[in-house]
Amino acid sequence: MARTIDWDGDAVVIIDQTALPETFRTLRLETVDELIEAIRRLAVRGAPALGAAGALGVALSARRHGTDSESALAAVRAEAERLAHARPTAVNLRYGVERALAALPQGADAVLTDALAVLDEDERVNRAASRHAAELLLRRCPPRPLRVLTHCNTGRLATVAWGTALGTVRHLHADGRIDQVLVDETRPLLQGSRLTAWELADEGIPHRVLPDGAAAAAMARGMVDCVVVGADRVAANGDTANKIGTYGLAVAAAHHDIPFVVVATESTLDRSLPDGGGIVIEERAAEEVTQLAGVPVAPEGSAVFNPAFDVTPVALLTAVVTENGVFATGRGT
Ligand code: MRU
Repeated sequence: MARTIDWDGDAVVIIDQTALPETFRTLRLETVDELIEAIRRLAVRGAPALGAAGALGVALSARRHGTDSESALAAVRAEAERLAHARPTAVNLRYGVERALAALPQGADAVLTDALAVLDEDERVNRAASRHAAELLLRRCPPRPLRVLTHCNTGRLATVAWGTALGTVRHLHADGRIDQVLVDETRPLLQGSRLTAWELADEGIPHRVLPDGAAAAAMARGMVDCVVVGADRVAANGDTANKIGTYGLAVAAAHHDIPFVVVATESTLDRSLPDGGGIVIEERAAEEVTQLAGVPVAPEGSAVFNPAFDVTPVALLTAVVTENGVFATGRGT
């Protein structure tokens, strides 16, 4: 399968994640404004994929404006700043923008080269982080094929290729250690049922979709050996922002003494924040909650609370793992 996001001649090409699982199609984005719009409506999403989008967006801008005058450089920097703010929580977006901007004094070709390096690195670091996480889970879980619960989408669609938490599942499956993946549907935008189930079906990995509200009951029934999720931003102490619902899962997993592992890349770490209290949480449109595929599911005008992410304190996590190994540990270690 093609990369989730890539460069093609003079445009950014993405898999349109709003169309899955019904339709597989790609979109060509030729301006930074088109890219920002695609990021805001989650046509491209997931922290590592947003890092790639940030880097490629700066490359688009540098080619459009050029780099040989002060006003051209200012125009690129202004577009880069707007791009970095397209979504506020995943720190990878700013990381990707800044990686590409660092090459701006060397010209537009150098910016593109550095942006493409961000994409190439992504698969390598995902594979390494998810291998560390798989080994940790094999040490912590019963010696039999595992029932793994996951939330949101952290697979190849959330990255350039391979995936973080779902990459861990792929390693475990290749090792013959997956019995079944329990896939939280992940309200309100259904990244679990639409995207994770699609990826797992594509790979022939046994799985079962459950409503988010059934996850704690599945733990209580002894159906879950471990939980593995990704991250959008991890503070210096290991507190982790991830898709809304992660915190509740971690509370339930701690109650049932079930290992809970966060898999992220170093580019998702924000060492400038001592703890998760400073992480900005994106709030999204009310219609994502009050409508389902355009059909009203709440009375018109209902007030809504729709945070896209929550912060799980490190004390509720077994570990946060990156390509460099264990970054932080919490309970049970
Ligand atoms: O709103 P989304 O779909 O961009 O949220 C994505 C998540 O929360 C993922 O769990 C996270 O980015 C990790 S992706 C490897």
